[in-house]
Amino acid sequence: MEQYVIRGGNPLVGEVEIGGAKNAALAILATAVMTDETVIIENLPDVRDTNVLIKAMESIGVVVEHLDRHTVKINASMITDHTIDDLYIKKIRASYYMLGALLGKYRDAEVALPGGCNIGSRPIDQHIKGFRALGADVRISRGLVTAQAERLTGNHIYLDVVTVGATINIMMAASLAEGKTIIENAAKEPHVVDVANFLNSMGANIKGAGTDVIRIKGVEKLHGTTYSIIPDQIEAGTFMFAAAITKGDITIKNVIPKHLESITAKLIEMGCEVEEFDDQLRIVSSKTLRHTHVKTLPYPGFPTDMQPQIATALATSDGTCVVTESIFENRFKYVDELLKMGAVIKVEGNTAIVEGVNRLTGAPITAPDLRAGAALVMAALAAEGVSTVDDIYYIERGYEDFPEKLRSLGAQIEKVSAERDIQKFRLKTG
Ligand code: UD1
Repeated sequence: MEQYVIRGGNPLVGEVEIGGAKNAALAILATAVMTDETVIIENLPDVRDTNVLIKAMESIGVVVEHLDRHTVKINASMITDHTIDDLYIKKIRASYYMLGALLGKYRDAEVALPGGCNIGSRPIDQHIKGFRALGADVRISRGLVTAQAERLTGNHIYLDVVTVGATINIMMAASLAEGKTIIENAAKEPHVVDVANFLNSMGANIKGAGTDVIRIKGVEKLHGTTYSIIPDQIEAGTFMFAAAITKGDITIKNVIPKHLESITAKLIEMGCEVEEFDDQLRIVSSKTLRHTHVKTLPYPGFPTDMQPQIATALATSDGTCVVTESIFENRFKYVDELLKMGAVIKVEGNTAIVEGVNRLTGAPITAPDLRAGAALVMAALAAEGVSTVDDIYYIERGYEDFPEKLRSLGAQIEKVSAERDIQKFRLKTG
């Protein structure tokens, strides 16, 4: 079994390059099948989730050619099947985007119910409500979601909750519906805007993405394009908090600072210095972190995907902090792991009360999901002594070259698969 072994204590110092946004990439890959013309996608992160989706697309006849590690050429003119039900697709959440894509293009889609990280109940009722409002017949049976329509017709859709997935999915299908669709209470996340920009570059007519009302005029056909995915806000945020917790000094390159405002604001409250440049940020952490409270909210609020990372940093702050999770109800599973490292945290419902401690100590820990896994790596980097992190495949779902990037900043981290490698690491770094 593969693990990370980490010796903590080194401040992380240097520069790190951020890749393309995983969550934008997943939607953009799926959207690329909505035309028969060739699409080139640049700045694609090479992570497990995007690779799983590419495999699933290939399984129905989409031709995907890697021009280099981060650029793919996609042609979906020879799709033979509208059913996606392989073993792997069940493991990723974003499989639901294939529903919007195939429904929009062929009026027919059948996709395995979405999986993804176990961070709480993850219904797709708003996706279904949207597809039905466009005129589709949607059914769930035998673990598959089937969406079919004679015609798709634009409609006025009010989302009951702010959901990124449903906003994007409805936007995709509505782009090829007849007439006008209005999505109200739409999600405003940067990747919603990125997918809208991508669709518009394919000939769609979408206005208002980034606000809570999105207006889509359906078009008959979409065409080929070349498009570069935005930088990953969450990967960047993770390195920003890694600088904070290790008392480091990291320049984060290839970012859009505007997308990181809520994270930057919290780091400043916690006593870090943040310098902003056009497409870079520098985070310097030189004192004990100050305590603060945080509540996750839809964009532009503090992202739920950064909650484990900020709570982990606050575990070494100078006071008591209240961390409230308002998007997913089961997102504190990493707390038990932090307790093994000497953190003092009590979870009550959707709130964690974090009492800062002077230092964490290394321990054997297990990643419970993607973002929490990254947060535990950060904890281990700041802790005294050696930690091992199990179930790192979660982390590999969304972070490209995570150990390599951390090592380039001075971290002592190795990916190992045998006990003797851990012993070697202890001797080498001890
Ligand atoms: C996406 C991201 C995930 C991120 C989340 C919130 C992907 C692959 N995943 O997940 O990393 O944490 O956005 O930024 O992009 N909801 C419903 N009904 C629905 C859909 C959602 O009630 O039909 C609820 C969810 O349970 C949750 C909230 O709406 O409480 C937000 O969910 P949503 O934004 O859709 O998240 P995901 O698409 O699952």
